[in-house]
Amino acid sequence: MKGVQAFNEIEDLDAESKYLVHKAKEAALNAYAPYSKFYVGAAVILDDDTVITGANYENASYPLCMCAERVTLYSAAATHPSRKVKKMAVIAHKKGQKELVTATPCGACRQVMLEFEVKQKQPIEIVMLTKESNWIIVPSCSFLLPYSFNQENLI
Ligand code: THU
Repeated sequence: MKGVQAFNEIEDLDAESKYLVHKAKEAALNAYAPYSKFYVGAAVILDDDTVITGANYENASYPLCMCAERVTLYSAAATHPSRKVKKMAVIAHKKGQKELVTATPCGACRQVMLEFEVKQKQPIEIVMLTKESNWIIVPSCSFLLPYSFNQENLI
């Protein structure tokens, strides 16, 4: 498996990754984030090239807020249960701003992403913007959550 790839400009990404970032940006416009005003969008591409998107969805009861990554993965699984997820792009911007900010998945999302990866026995690549303003492509969720607890621990 190749390592993490870093790119200075979005234009330097491969066409599929660029397209997923574009779809994630579109999805972020559907975020419901009246409390944090932090708009997150995610897009996944499945092994039949279907693209599913999602955005964060907040609640007045704050702990019930749901991240864009989990909305997207659960939506993909619920609508295309027999498909594998090949790649996910995540982006974020503040309310009313075009400029993208760092959106690296939270710990809870990393755990959920890893569950998908272990279940489907195939790595999921993640495309995201780091705080150093580089676009990176991480080859597997396991890179985001080393020494993880997963179903293999329960055997
Ligand atoms: N959020 C995401 O959607 N994904 C992340 O990876 C980090 C955080 C959302 C949750 C909440 O609605 C808002 O961003 C602020 O935490």
